[in-house]
Amino acid sequence: MSVHTKRNYRGISPSEFFYRNRQMAGFSNNAQALFSTIRELVENSLDACEDAGRLPEIEIIINTTQTDVVDVYVADNGTGVPPEHVPESFGRVLYGSKYSSRQRRGTFGLGVTMAILYGQITTNSPVIVETQESHTIGNRFSLYIDVEHNRPIVESVEAFDRGGPGTTVMIRMKGNLKRSQDKLLEYLRLTTVATPYCRLKVTIDDANPSTYGGFSTSLPDPPLVCKPHPRSADVEMLRRMIELNPQRTLRQFLINSFQQIGTKTASSFLQFKNMDPHRHLSTLNRDETAHLSESLRKYSAFKKPESKCLSPIGKAGLQKAVTSLFETQNVSYASVGPLEWDGNPFFIEGALFLTSSRSGSEHPQLLRFANRVPLLYDASDCVFTKVLKRVDWSRYDLGSKTPSILITHLCSTRVPYKAAGKQSIASIPEIELKSKSLYRGLGRTIGRLVKRARSSAREIQRKRELSRSLQLIAKFSAELADSKVPETVRLMESMFEVS
Ligand SMILES: Nc1ncnc2c1ncn2[C@@H]1O[C@H](COP(=O)(O)OP(=O)(O)OP(=O)(O)O)[C@@H](O)[C@H]1O
Ligand SMILES: [Mg+2]
Repeated sequence: MSVHTKRNYRGISPSEFFYRNRQMAGFSNNAQALFSTIRELVENSLDACEDAGRLPEIEIIINTTQTDVVDVYVADNGTGVPPEHVPESFGRVLYGSKYSSRQRRGTFGLGVTMAILYGQITTNSPVIVETQESHTIGNRFSLYIDVEHNRPIVESVEAFDRGGPGTTVMIRMKGNLKRSQDKLLEYLRLTTVATPYCRLKVTIDDANPSTYGGFSTSLPDPPLVCKPHPRSADVEMLRRMIELNPQRTLRQFLINSFQQIGTKTASSFLQFKNMDPHRHLSTLNRDETAHLSESLRKYSAFKKPESKCLSPIGKAGLQKAVTSLFETQNVSYASVGPLEWDGNPFFIEGALFLTSSRSGSEHPQLLRFANRVPLLYDASDCVFTKVLKRVDWSRYDLGSKTPSILITHLCSTRVPYKAAGKQSIASIPEIELKSKSLYRGLGRTIGRLVKRARSSAREIQRKRELSRSLQLIAKFSAELADSKVPETVRLMESMFEVS
């Protein structure tokens, strides 16, 4: 007799998926969850301040209320959130305002909701959001997430004057402060390297507040939303774009919907691919749409993607932050880009410097950043670690005797994160190749400095030894001649002047 198990089929909501698989988003345990909560809230605050065109002033308060229960409070001076979008932004997984083609810290529409979900399942507490836009009265929301249906449950909402635009988010959660505190403070410190114009004020368990940042007082130009590049048009994206513009002809569609396609490029592309420029999009069937996508992705004559959607840190900002935070003076900076992977623009910048604040190893210590966010977990899985280990740093005299730090920042409209926790970057061949040449270039520059410093150290040592010998000779000669010991400094100076 055969025995079968009856299968039960059903679907689950995105919140339920992330509730079951929270480790994928960086919420594996109470220590990591506290780190990720602060990280997600600070990231959102920085994005909101830049959208508002204001220098970010962010206040972070963490208070332990009972063993392993903490209250997290993050307040900013950003845009605020329109009241009609508050419930969904904070109470629905995969909802947000950042799904456009420009560099942002936020990507998935997941971060703050994961933090709220973690708070809710570990302490059964709602999130409190106080938010206010410019020239309006603000609101105070208290809400939960209905995990099963992925929708917000608003417990209460009332008018509330925050005293100025911005957002304050308060989450009560289980969190292991002892285990996460060092990493947390390191994260905040490094945030000011990638965003030198932000000011962060942190208070932990009523101790004296610490402040970070404020290395620069000018905001960079904001990255602009760009139309998609034709080489990024996969079949799903193309299908949706066509659905929005069914009445357009192929030629009009290409010119209006993509960057880097003007009248001339559209004509040469369509001619080359033997397509009718006057054909209406509504007449394209599934196979023809797939063929168009394939042709766009493979056509090499399109210009590179535009870079105005990107915002690198830049040489001046990075050097200022690095010299303020680390014991170093000579910071070598280099960048590559704008380049593209799959039609997505990217830019990599790096800074390499010697430091006495760490002990040496066979390669520089790597500090990774993506879209101005420090990446502190999953380093071994990251393309930048892989490339770091492939470079022979001993060629540039950077080994255990010369400790150094290498900063790498990738910015892109689409950072190829390996998981929803946004901690490590996938090995995209273009990124791998370009970061390797960037690392080697930086290595050569610092290598030359190391060599110069070594030979001047040798010179100093030589002078010191000579001076000591001269002093001894002078002393013995004076004893023999029964006279006063002569001055040797002048003699040294004249010797080195002559040589
Ligand atoms: N402090 C804030 N100020 C203004 N808007 C905010 C703030 N926090 C969250 N939001 C809004 O809520 C949305 C959802 O935030 P969430 O962190 O879940 O996703 P995200 O930032 O878009 O992407 P990611 O999952 O990568 O963090 C944001 O897109 C933004 O519109
Ligand atoms: Mg976010």
